[in-house]
Amino acid sequence: MIKFVSSNRHKFEEIDEILRKNGIESTWINLKYEEVQEDSIEKISWESCNRLTSKIGSNFFLEDSGILIEALNWFPGPYSSYIQRTIGNEGILKLLEGKKRNATFVTVISYWDGEQIMQFKGKTEGVIANSIFHGRDFGYDPIFIPEGKSKTASLLSIEEKNEVSQRGKAMIRFIEYLKNA
Ligand code: IMP
Repeated sequence: MIKFVSSNRHKFEEIDEILRKNGIESTWINLKYEEVQEDSIEKISWESCNRLTSKIGSNFFLEDSGILIEALNWFPGPYSSYIQRTIGNEGILKLLEGKKRNATFVTVISYWDGEQIMQFKGKTEGVIANSIFHGRDFGYDPIFIPEGKSKTASLLSIEEKNEVSQRGKAMIRFIEYLKNA
């Protein structure tokens, strides 16, 4: 049994699907922790995990994610939640009018094993769609088309998304580690 700390139900649904498939049981610690503002997704993930080690006690993991858009000089990256909360997907589409639409989504898992923190990263290239496609409306998914797919991540099932997503890829690396630990 492994604990996943997040206040985001979508994240838990995705990590749970992939863990179950691999025969690993998880418990969702639905906790909203204060996210430090750092200039990299790795640092935010690591620092958030580090701050929770005494509070959670036993081994657990969390993750931090962000979208990096080429035409915006790879912004917002570590500022992805702030941008989502402020200008949102509509604002991103406006900023990208007539611009190149490549983007990369990154997830960095931080796992506290009771003694140290380990990180596992996953990356997915893709493009920003021309409009918003509602479905499973999680963050940037309504405007992000992962490479190899012809629709936005919001229109994929959790299983389909996990096969190509940044989180799915980070989870596969993490699960490999857990199986060999
Ligand atoms: P955080 O990892 O919760 O800090 O996420 C940063 C921002 O990216 C938030 O606005 C999330 O809603 C969004 N986000 C995180 N993961 C995903 C994803 O898999 N798809 C779409 N948006 C995401």
